[in-house]
Amino acid sequence: IFSWAVLEPEEGKYDFSFLDQAMDNVYKNGGKVVLATPSGARPHWMSDKYPEVLRVLPDRRRALFGARHNHCFTSPVYRQKTAQINRLLAERYRNHPALGAWHVSNEYGGECHCPLCQEAFRTWLKNKYEGDLERLNHAWWTDFWSHRYTSWEQIESPSPIGENGVHGLTLDWKRFVTDQTADFMHNETIPLREITPDVLVTTNFMAFYPGLNYWKLREETDVISWDNYPDWHKPGEQIHVAVRTALLHDMNRSFLQKPFMLMESTPSHVNWKEYNKLKRPGMHKLSSIQAIAHGSDTVQYFQWRKSRGGSEKMHGAVVDHCGHEHTRVFREVAELGELLQKMDGVVGTMPHNKVALLYDWENRWALEDLRGLQKNDKKYEETVQQHYKPFWQRGIGVDVLDFHQDLSPYSLVIAPMMYLMEKDNIERLKQYVANGGTLVCTYVTGEADENDLCWLGGFPAGGLKEVFGLWAEEIDTLYPGETNQVTWQEKDYTAQDYCEVIHPDSAQTLAVYGKDFYAGSPALCVNQFGKGQAYYIAFRDDGAFVDDFYGKLADDLELPRALPHLSEGVTAHLREGDGERYVFVENYNAQPVCVPLDKVYQNVETGQMVSKELLLESFGVAVLKEQ
Ligand code: GLA
Repeated sequence: IFSWAVLEPEEGKYDFSFLDQAMDNVYKNGGKVVLATPSGARPHWMSDKYPEVLRVLPDRRRALFGARHNHCFTSPVYRQKTAQINRLLAERYRNHPALGAWHVSNEYGGECHCPLCQEAFRTWLKNKYEGDLERLNHAWWTDFWSHRYTSWEQIESPSPIGENGVHGLTLDWKRFVTDQTADFMHNETIPLREITPDVLVTTNFMAFYPGLNYWKLREETDVISWDNYPDWHKPGEQIHVAVRTALLHDMNRSFLQKPFMLMESTPSHVNWKEYNKLKRPGMHKLSSIQAIAHGSDTVQYFQWRKSRGGSEKMHGAVVDHCGHEHTRVFREVAELGELLQKMDGVVGTMPHNKVALLYDWENRWALEDLRGLQKNDKKYEETVQQHYKPFWQRGIGVDVLDFHQDLSPYSLVIAPMMYLMEKDNIERLKQYVANGGTLVCTYVTGEADENDLCWLGGFPAGGLKEVFGLWAEEIDTLYPGETNQVTWQEKDYTAQDYCEVIHPDSAQTLAVYGKDFYAGSPALCVNQFGKGQAYYIAFRDDGAFVDDFYGKLADDLELPRALPHLSEGVTAHLREGDGERYVFVENYNAQPVCVPLDKVYQNVETGQMVSKELLLESFGVAVLKEQ
C-alpha cells in the first residue's frame, strides 16, 4: 500500500523488485498477502505533470501535493493512471501463490470541488431530474431566499463561500460524492476482476465515517473490511466504547450479511489521538475476539513493523523499533495467534438475529443539516447506540441496517430518529407492521421526504399516523441540564433533550410526562396495526428507560439470548453454522466476573469442558463451543 512512487518512480518506468521480494518472503513464511492498490497516495511527478489530479477544497482552493488521500475522484487522468497501475499489479501477481485478496485503495474519503467534479455533479443532477430544471428547483425549494436556478451551469457544489443553506443541494451533493467514489472504485476494480476473477476484492471502511454512504460502496466489494481504533481505556467510557464498537462490527457484518474482515487494528496504541494510551493487558485479546464474536473472520493489524521515519513512526506495531520479539505486545499477538489457530470452525459461521436496528446515512446527513432542535449536535449516532445497548447487555444479537433493506426476517425493527422518510420506505414499514412485525420509532419520525421537504398533513408522515395511531404536534428542545419526568409502569424516568407532544388517536398511552405545560400528556404509546404493533417513544431519556423498555419487549417477544444471565458490562454473542454453535463471552469490567451457564460448553482455548459457571478475569474473554 502507498508505494506508488517506488513502483513507478518515473511516468511509465516501473520497478516491482521490492514488492516481488515481499510477496516471495511472505509466501515462504506460510502467509498470504492482501495486496493494496496504491491510489491512496500518488507520486510527485503525477501532480506536477497533471495538476487536475489534485483535489480542490470546498472554498475552491486547489490543494498542493502532499499528505495522502488528496486526489480528485473525477479526473480522467487519475482514473486512467490508477487503472493502469492496478492492471500491472494484477498481471504481475495473478499467479503468485501469496496473493490472497485485493485491498482497493485505502479508506476512501473526502470530496473534490474542481471544475471536472462540478461538471460531473451537473450531469448526475440532469440524470436524476431527467433534464428538468423545474423539478430540481421544486425538490430543492429554491424560491426560498431567491435561490432559483435558471440554467444548469449556475449549479455549484456547496461551499462556505457560496451556497450552504439549500438542504436538497447538500443532500444531493453528498449522494453524488458517494456515487462518484463508488464509480472511482469500480474503475479501479475493472482490471483486477478481469485478470484475477477469483481473487476477492475489498476496501477498508471507517466506522460511521460521515462522508460516504457505505451501503452504496458495499456493492463494489466481495467482502467487507473495516479499520477499528476505539479509545478503549478512556476514563469512565469503557462500556460505552465496547457498545459502540460492537454496534459497528454488527453494521459491517450486516452490509453483506456475511462474515467480514477486521482489516486494521492496533496491538497496542495509535499515534493520532489526543491521548495515545496503551491497551491494558488482556484488552488486545478481548478487542480482537470481540470483532470475531460479531462476525469477523480475520484479525489484522496496522502495522507489522514501525517505519523508522514518517508520521507513523510512533504508531503501535507488532514489531517495535527494538526489532525483536521479546516485548509484551509481540507476546500478546503470538498468544492471540495460538487461539485463532484453534478457531477454524468459526470461519464462515453467522448469527441469525431477530432484531434490526436502522442507522441510515441519508437520514444522518439530513439531520446534520437541519436547522432546529439542538443546532449543532442532534446526537443521532449516540441515540442509535442508546437503543442498541439494551440488547448488547442482554446478549441479544442485532443486525444494523439502513432504511432500504428487507425487514421481513425480523421480529423487532427499531428506527430511532428516522426524520427522512421517502414514500417507498413508509410503505415498507407499514407492510412490516401490518404483517405482524413490532416496530419502535421515536420523536422526529417521518418529518421530511427524500428531498428534505417537510411532509404536509401532520407528522409522522403519510400513512404512519395510522400505523402509530397518533400524530405529533410539536417538539420541545430542552437546554443541557433541563429534564422532564416520564412515568412508566409506576416507575419514574428522566427525559432530556427532546420531548415531543403527541396526540393518540387509536393508540394506547403507556407513559405520560410529569412536568411542564404538557404534563399528563402521552410520552409513550403503542398501537395495534394489522397483525403487528407499533411503539412511539416521544422523548429522549438518559438510558434507563430504553433499557427497561427493551428488556420488557425482549421478554414479550421471547428474543433469543446467547446466555441467560449477564451482569453489567458483560456480554455474549452467538455464531452458528454446520451444526456448531459458538458463544463468545466478553467482560469489559476491570474486575473479574462469574457468568452463569445453562449448557455444557468446551472452552476452545483450553479444551476444557465448562458448565454451570464461567470465571472471566478483568477484560477477560472466552470462546465456548456448545456440546
Ligand atoms: C488508517 C490507515 C492506516 C494508518 C492507520 C493508523 O486506518 O488506513 O494507513 O494510517 O490509520 O491508525
